[in-house]
Amino acid sequence: MSPAWKKIALLLAAGALAVLAAAPEPEASSAGGGAMVEIPDRTPVVALTFDDGPWPGTTERLLDGLALRETPATFFLVGVNIPGREALVRRMAAEGHQVGVHSYSHARIRGLSRADFDCEVGKVRAQLSAILGGGEFWLRPPYGAMDDSVRLWADSPIILWSVDPEDWKDDDVDRKTAHVLSHVRDGDIILFHDIFDSSVDAALRVVDALEDQGYCFVTVEQLLARGDVQAERGAVYRRLE
Ligand code: NI
Repeated sequence: MSPAWKKIALLLAAGALAVLAAAPEPEASSAGGGAMVEIPDRTPVVALTFDDGPWPGTTERLLDGLALRETPATFFLVGVNIPGREALVRRMAAEGHQVGVHSYSHARIRGLSRADFDCEVGKVRAQLSAILGGGEFWLRPPYGAMDDSVRLWADSPIILWSVDPEDWKDDDVDRKTAHVLSHVRDGDIILFHDIFDSSVDAALRVVDALEDQGYCFVTVEQLLARGDVQAERGAVYRRLE
């Protein structure tokens, strides 16, 4: 619908409401005295992503906060952090979060032999399959470091990010929150690490603030599906364009 048609539709809707309601509410927003409210083409969507977990304490606190807000997120896991924390991985999946692979040892995965690549990526997929009973686990390379081999061998879409508060730099919850809120746009993929308490706090503040602004949180997979993007193996996605 063109903006002009939207406005006409809104005016018609407002007129219908005025007929139905004895005392219609004043318009929430009016420009130049007219009852015109811009409605976006769709609800703005954003995907929160968390790297380097699962981590005791912080990941649990994050999952509690996301559950309270009924907000899905995406977790890219480090294999060495998984043994003994399988219940956290099961909880992520059970609560509607997307689970993916970061690498086994948080090594850079570019420039590796095929065998070493499989030890870093395939091994985590095997861990996740064993815990979750199969599934497709998308890849986020550590540091976003890639080459042609990574794209060729990824065996899944490769997910980077478009908003990065560099949350490893300090423990400043206000700074991390403000960075995301001042940079975020519809379709963004936000990068956090759920191994820091201050990042968990910032992420939950971001959820509360953006929900107040009308954003809807989705997993990365849901984000791409929203845009009718056919996520392809070896293709790199930074945001929903
Ligand atoms: Ni990482």
